[in-house]
Amino acid sequence: MELIITDTTSQLGEAAATLVAEQVHRQRNSVLGLATGSSPLPAYEHLGRTIRTDFAGVTCFALDEYVGLTAAHTQSYRRFVAERITGPLGIVPGRVHVPTGDAEDLDAECAAYEQAIADAGGVDLQILGIGRNGHLAFNEPGSAFSSRTRPVRLAEDTRRANARFFDAPEHVPQYALTQGLGTIMEARHLLLVAAGPGKAAPLAAALNGPVTEDFPASIIQRHPNVTVIADSAAAALL
Ligand code: GLP
Repeated sequence: MELIITDTTSQLGEAAATLVAEQVHRQRNSVLGLATGSSPLPAYEHLGRTIRTDFAGVTCFALDEYVGLTAAHTQSYRRFVAERITGPLGIVPGRVHVPTGDAEDLDAECAAYEQAIADAGGVDLQILGIGRNGHLAFNEPGSAFSSRTRPVRLAEDTRRANARFFDAPEHVPQYALTQGLGTIMEARHLLLVAAGPGKAAPLAAALNGPVTEDFPASIIQRHPNVTVIADSAAAALL
């Protein structure tokens, strides 16, 4: 595991963006796994602003999506991905995949999503954030390490953490579709980004604590190719 600690969040964004750009330069038709959330945003912004990379051949798969929100909802991950990530980077819309959280048949949607990842040849570089409770994507504590893309119920802690993005706490959806931990672990390279003091304890538990389904992010200890980029606040307990 490679650990990069930066002084500031903006340097974290720069370091993560450099790694993504290197991947795409090496392989123009890379398959990128996208995390939403605030932690990777500086990386996406830096990529869009500063690093001249041709994303025309890139395919993307997002990690997760809320159940029940339309694509146009301000907090849907489909909208977040399009507006904050793939639009600014010039990734071809037809190559951008986000689970359809308002699909009629959610199980079928999840199976199709797994198939689409397989058809694309798997994920080359998977960007990850970490939840305060150790979740990866929306794999909450107790998720099986072998889990695949599926509908899940969100933990109350996660709903509270994400309430800041919604008009009212009760508007945070109760369910989501998420790539499974087994799905995520098949990516050839994992890039975990963690920023701010609130991520210090979860990051330490993920990297140095027991590998357990009670703390899903600990699974990355079993992956052969992981890069962790943390700002000094998030790295404080390492
Ligand atoms: C969200 C997302 C995760 C993300 C995590 C942390 O709920 N589903 O993919 O990594 O929570 O988010 P943030 O980076 O905003 O702290």
